Amino acid sequence: MKTREIKIVVHEFENRSELAEDDQLLLTEARKITALAYAPYSGFHVGAAVLLANGMILKGNNQENAAYPSGLCAERVALFYANANYPDSAVKAIAISAAKNGVLVNETVKPCGSCRQVLAETEVRYKTPIRIILDGQASILVLQGSEGLLPLSFSKQAL
Ligand code: THU
Repeated sequence: MKTREIKIVVHEFENRSELAEDDQLLLTEARKITALAYAPYSGFHVGAAVLLANGMILKGNNQENAAYPSGLCAERVALFYANANYPDSAVKAIAISAAKNGVLVNETVKPCGSCRQVLAETEVRYKTPIRIILDGQASILVLQGSEGLLPLSFSKQAL
């Protein structure tokens, strides 16, 4: 038996002003769209802003439903919208924010497993890693790709 260690690199920032300018802008857009989420069942509002290679920023937020599983997370709303409308433009970065009762969450928001899988697929699709910016009061985390969120992921190579 061999034991392999999988290392992930996460950059931690104390606040928004420490981020690179482009990331600050993307995070501001994610925070703004968070406020427009449709989340009457959980009260947990999430926003995602996606930066495309063509320079556009596209946004999404969580859309809930009385039939709970019919709803969709902010990240997938934003990514699918971006890919549907600009299929020829790679996704370069995504910023994700979340709020409870209109207040930015204290602990850094973490994408769910399905959104991690979609991020991984998007990287394979466009053959480029996606910088991921995760918002929170306590700290903002930045990862240079989805591998840190979803190591040993399932992809088309397995098919
Ligand atoms: N949610 C997201 O939009 N993104 C995530 O990464 C985690 C969860 C949404 C789904 C649901 O509307 C609410 O947050 C509570 O789970």
